[in-house]
Amino acid sequence: MRESMRKLRGKARLTVLSALCAGALLLCAACAPQGAPTGGDGAAANASGDETAAVAWSLDADCAACHTDQQDSLADTSQAASNHAAVTCVTCHNDEAAMEKSHDGKTADSKMPKKLKRSKIDETACASCHSAEDLKAATADLTVLTDGNGTTVNPHDIPANSGHEGQVDCASCHTMHGEADVQAAAQEKCASCHHKDVYECGTCHE
Ligand code: HEC
Ligand code: HEC
Ligand code: HEC
Ligand code: HEC
Ligand code: HEC
Ligand code: HEC
Repeated sequence: MRESMRKLRGKARLTVLSALCAGALLLCAACAPQGAPTGGDGAAANASGDETAAVAWSLDADCAACHTDQQDSLADTSQAASNHAAVTCVTCHNDEAAMEKSHDGKTADSKMPKKLKRSKIDETACASCHSAEDLKAATADLTVLTDGNGTTVNPHDIPANSGHEGQVDCASCHTMHGEADVQAAAQEKCASCHHKDVYECGTCHE
């Protein structure tokens, strides 16, 4: 550990108040997994030149040290995340490259995010526990997605087409942390493109 501290200190570019520095290093020590090798992802993140000695982010970081709201959501049964108390954060948040960017230079005092900006939730993470067939069946009779022409779409069986590719995923409708009206979120998502309450475009546009 002392080895890595020396490295960190060496990398702090400007004079930093020693108290601040010690605080940040302590935090870092708390976040580092027991027995983890020094260097690796974390060292790379610190090498980016943040002057307040940012906490190194890695898949093994102590997420709860900074994201208290999301950590608490795992225990709040009004939030969908509570079904996933046994699932680690990074099972769902596995977009490693984007996550590393988002955390570049961040500390526990940084502004915490209200929504995902850079990273995506990889649906394969969800699919490992929720099969597409089961989901389709669970909402087969749901009519909440019905347009002005009476066309009903199952939220788990949206037609695959060029307009939808990469645009609609689990996270579009399921807010895991924070209470949310899933049905309203689903309707809003569709309406963001189907702006005339019609589930097609060609009838009016080329
Ligand atoms: C040192 C504090 C800290 C730690 C530790 C930390 N985060 Fe973050 N995280 C942040 C901050 C600050 C942001 C906001 C970054 C921004 O606004 O660009 C953020 C952003 C995020 C985001 C949003 C990414 C996006 O799409 O913009 C996710 C998801 C996230 N963190 C998950 C995690 C997970 C999972 C862990 C544990 C493996 C973790 N964080 C560890 C501080 C931290
Ligand atoms: C490790 C397994 C696992 C992973 C990964 C997982 N889930 Fe779940 N999920 C569960 C279990 C178990 C339940 C509770 C039983 C159920 O309703 O199927 C649940 C419940 C839910 C519920 C609430 C269902 C209800 O009845 O209200 C939603 C919504 C959900 N998951 C969405 C997701 C999404 C979206 C992802 C990916 C971002 C995901 N899950 C990833 C296991 C998982
Ligand atoms: C277009 C919006 C939308 C998308 C995309 C979506 N869902 Fe749903 N999901 C819903 C709605 C609406 C319900 C019904 C919830 C209700 O009635 O409160 C639901 C219900 C569920 C349930 C509960 C099913 C049950 O047994 O009752 C799970 C689990 C779930 N979704 C997981 C997922 C996963 C995983 C994905 C991505 C593969 C996904 N959903 C994508 C809108 C969506
Ligand atoms: C079952 C999958 C799943 C798990 C487990 C999970 N998240 Fe998330 N998380 C999501 C989804 C989906 C979103 C995007 C929708 C939303 O905004 O809630 C999200 C959004 C976020 C955001 C963006 C801000 C926000 O609240 O929307 C942060 C930060 C975050 N998660 C951190 C965490 C941390 C830290 C943990 C572990 C304590 C965790 N997540 C566990 C699925 C998950
Ligand atoms: C990012 C924009 C976007 C979003 C979000 C979106 N759509 Fe679409 N949708 C399109 C486009 C563009 C087309 C036409 C694509 C084509 O014709 O190849 C389309 C086509 C469709 C069609 C096929 C219509 C036909 O030609 O028969 C249906 C049904 C549909 N959307 C339903 C939905 C539903 C339900 C939602 C919400 C869960 C949704 N869409 C969300 C852009 C979007
Ligand atoms: C019922 C007819 C109708 C349908 C269906 C429809 N549109 Fe439109 N759209 C219009 C009209 C009329 C306008 C002109 C502005 C207005 O009234 O909103 C417009 C405007 C637009 C614009 C803005 C164009 C500009 O120059 O400002 C875009 C982009 C657009 N539509 C995309 C779509 C997409 C994508 C779909 C399918 C997902 C779609 N529309 C479905 C009638 C329709």
